[in-house]
Order: sequence, then C-alpha cells, then structure tokens
Amino acid sequence: MTEAQYTPPLGTGDTADYDRAIRRWTREMRWRGAMLELLAARAGETILDIGCGTGSFAVMLKAASPDAVVIGIDPDAEALSIARDKAQSASVSIEWRQGFARDLEAAAADAVVSSLMFHQVPMAEKRAGLAAMHAALRPGGRLLVADYGKQASLMRFLFRQTIQRLDGVEDTQPNADGMLPGLMAEAGFDDVREARHVHTATGTITLFLARRR
Ligand SMILES: C[S@@+](CC[C@H](N)C(=O)[O-])C[C@H]1O[C@@H](n2cnc3c(N)ncnc32)[C@H](O)[C@@H]1O
Repeated sequence: MTEAQYTPPLGTGDTADYDRAIRRWTREMRWRGAMLELLAARAGETILDIGCGTGSFAVMLKAASPDAVVIGIDPDAEALSIARDKAQSASVSIEWRQGFARDLEAAAADAVVSSLMFHQVPMAEKRAGLAAMHAALRPGGRLLVADYGKQASLMRFLFRQTIQRLDGVEDTQPNADGMLPGLMAEAGFDDVREARHVHTATGTITLFLARRR
C-alpha cells in the first residue's frame, strides 16, 4: 500500500453521502454516545481521533469536553474539509491533520480513539496502526475503538450485504472473524475487552477498550 492508497470514508460510495449513510444505517447516536461515555474524557487530556473522517466524533467529543485537546487525523482531504466545516459550525476548536494511522509519532497522548477505520484497512495496516497508537499513548493511556467486530448469524449476513459491498471482503473479513482483540494484544495493549455491542442494519459495531501498560 502506497501513501495514496486507502479506502475512503464510504468505500466505493461518495464521501459527500457519508454522514447521511452513517446516520441512517448504523444507529449512530447509540454507538457514538457509548464512545463518549466509555472514554470519559477529563479536562486537560489530549485525545487523538485516528481515521476521524468527517469529524463527527471529534466534534461531539470537543463539544462535550471543551477542556480536552482533540486532534483528528485522516488521510482523506475531502473528509477533513467536511470535518473543518462541521467544527466551525459547532464553534469548537480541533486540530486536523492529514495522515495515516501508521505514521503517528510516538507521543504522550492520554487517549486514542478510532471509529469505523480498522475494518477498512489491510491486515498490515491494522497491525502498523495499532503499534503506532500504542506508541502514541503515555503509560496508562487508553485506547477506545468502535468498529465492526465479530459478526454472527444475521449480523454476518447484513455485514456481507452492506459493508463488504462498499469496502470489499479482504480488509473487512478479519474484523468479522473477530481478530481485532488479538491484534490489540499483539501490539502490546493490556486489558483488552469488548465493552459494548450495538447491532445495526450493517452488522454489529463493537466498542473495544484497552490500555497501554
Ligand atoms: C468509515 S470512515 C470513519 C470515519 C470516522 N471515524 C467516523 O466515525 O465516522 C474510515 C476513515 O478511515 C480513513 N482511513 C482509511 N485508511 C486509513 C489509515 N490507514 N489510517 C488512518 N485513516 C484511514 C478513511 O479516510 C476514512 O475517513
């Protein structure tokens, strides 16, 4: 995968339709609200949103925790432009950076969050992204990932009919097979756990929590 190759927000769909699709098909407020609750951001914390896309969660987070420093990172220029407009409309200040998860610098962030990004990236990128997230956290820092995890019965069928049509099978199948927790542990994370499951018309979205020792 070169610098220019990645799956954009809506896969084969149009980025301009992304927010509407997520709102309509994923019970968005259910899982984004659960992210806010599980993250429990504190004043002064630095929180990185990796694969922030059109910025919906970063904006929600900054509005809920104005004293946190929120940084959104994504390779897609069009998504970042939508994110900038969204932050401006909400009158919140967020730093937006263009880049890939694997290119995160070692840092001392208090938390790293990522939603609906890992199912779209190849195995090598899942591994490199998680390793970079681990390095970007301070000791004790927390990781919160909301993404399609293991899919069972009807959820597996719906996932195949929707997400795998948009984003392809190769990158998404490891998520559906339940590989994310093992990859998080492999990257060095401790206390990896599945905190919530939200069943949607596109498959089950799982909220994973982990911690850097
Ligand atoms: C489905 S969108 C999710 C956007 C946002 N996090 C949300 O919750 O709505 C996935 C995002 O991951 C980004 N992405 C794809 N490959 C990436 C990578 N290797 N590193 C970081 N972001 C990536 C895409 O550009 C896209 O904006």
